[in-house]
Amino acid sequence: MRQIELHPEDYLPAAPPQEIVQRYGIAIVGCGNIARNTHLPAYSKFGYRIVAACDVIEEKARTVAEEYDIPLWTTNLEAVIDRRDVDIVDLAVRPEHRLAAVEQLAPAGKHILSQKPLAPTLAEAERIVEICQEAGITLMINQQARWASYHTAMKVLIDRGLFGHLYSVLHVHRQYQDGTDSAWRTTPDFTIIDNGIHYVDLSRYFTGRTPRRVKTTTTRVPGQNAIDPMIYTILCEYEPADLMSTLHFNNIAPALHHSPYLWHIDGTDASASIARYGSLRDGRTELTISFKEDLDQRQVFHIQGGWFPDAWGGTMGEMQRALAAGVEPQASGRDNLNSIRITDAAVESSKTGQTVEIPPA
Ligand SMILES: NC(=O)c1ccc[n+]([C@@H]2O[C@H](COP(=O)([O-])OP(=O)(O)OC[C@H]3O[C@@H](n4cnc5c(N)ncnc54)[C@H](O)[C@@H]3O)[C@@H](O)[C@H]2O)c1
Repeated sequence: MRQIELHPEDYLPAAPPQEIVQRYGIAIVGCGNIARNTHLPAYSKFGYRIVAACDVIEEKARTVAEEYDIPLWTTNLEAVIDRRDVDIVDLAVRPEHRLAAVEQLAPAGKHILSQKPLAPTLAEAERIVEICQEAGITLMINQQARWASYHTAMKVLIDRGLFGHLYSVLHVHRQYQDGTDSAWRTTPDFTIIDNGIHYVDLSRYFTGRTPRRVKTTTTRVPGQNAIDPMIYTILCEYEPADLMSTLHFNNIAPALHHSPYLWHIDGTDASASIARYGSLRDGRTELTISFKEDLDQRQVFHIQGGWFPDAWGGTMGEMQRALAAGVEPQASGRDNLNSIRITDAAVESSKTGQTVEIPPA
C-alpha cells in the first residue's frame, strides 16, 4: 500500500513570524457575535496586535476592549481612521453596513479584512472591490474555512498532484439554523448567500476552478421560520466539461449529527473524503484517501484542529504575510467576486428553475 505522509504542521494554521505580526496594528470594527466569540479568541491565541475596537453600540466596543486588553475603544469610525497605528481593519459588521465603512476606510489607506459575504448584492461587492483597488489598499475576505485544518489538509493532498485529473466534488452538510430568535431568519436567501458561500468558496479552493453555470433546487419546509428556503442542492458545470461539483446543504435538519459533514473529492488516480463527526466546532475529523492502483486499501488520517476559532488566525496570518510580501492574498476581494457570482447565480436559479450562466470575471 502506498503510504502518504501528512503531518499537523502541513495543515494547521500558524501566525507569521513575529517581525511581521508586530508590524501590523489591527482595529476590530463591529464587535458583535462573531468578532467577540471567534475573531478575538483566535487573534489572542495567535498573538496578533489589536490596537482598537469600534462598534456603534458603546457597550459592545467597551466590553471587548476590557476582555482583550485593547488600548482604545470607540463608537466612531473616524477615531479608527485617525489612528496611525491601525494598519488593518477587521470589518465584522453585517454586509449592509460594509460599503459605507469601506468608503471611509479605503481612501484613508487602511487595509481591510472583511467578513463574508462581502455585500448584500454582487453589484455592491463589485463597487467595494473597485473602491479598494482605486485606493491601492488590500482587501481580503474572511473565507476562513480555507484555513480550517481539515480543508487545508485536503488541499495539501490535492496540491501534491495525488489525484490525477480531479473530476468530481461532492459536499453534504446538515445543520439547523431555523431558530425563531435568529437574525438569519430574516436575511434573504441566507442559506445560499451567507452560510453557503463557505462551501461554494471551498469548491473553488479545492478545484482551482470557477463553474460556468449552475442549477439550484430548493424547497420550503412546512412550518419553517426563515423567510427563504433553508435547503439547497447546487449543481455546478464547468468549461471544459471535465469536472462537476454538487453542493448539498440542509440547514433545517433536525437530524444534525446523524451523518458527518462530508466532502468527497475524486480524481482519475485517487479519491479522498473529509468526514467531520459531531459539530464543526467540537467534532473529530477523518480524512481518508485511496488509490486506483490499490482499491482495497485506504489510509485514514485523524486530522488535528478544526474550524472555530483557529481558522480565523489563518486568515489574518494570510493577510499579514501578503501585505509583508506586497502580493495579493488568497481570498482577495477580487477573487471572492467569483464566489459571490456563484451564490448570486444559485439564488437566481433557485427562483427561476433555470440553469444560470456565471458572468465572466
Ligand atoms: N463563519 C463565519 O465566517 C461567520 C459566522 C457568523 C457570522 N459571520 C458574518 O459576520 C458578520 C457579522 O455577524 P455577527 O453575527 O457578528 O453580527 P452582529 O450583529 O452580532 O455584529 C455586528 C456588529 O456590528 C456593529 N455595527 C454595525 N454598524 C457598524 C458601524 N458602522 N461601525 C461599527 N460597528 C457597527 C453592530 O452594532 C454589531 O455589534 C456577518 O456578515 C456574518 O455573515 C461569519
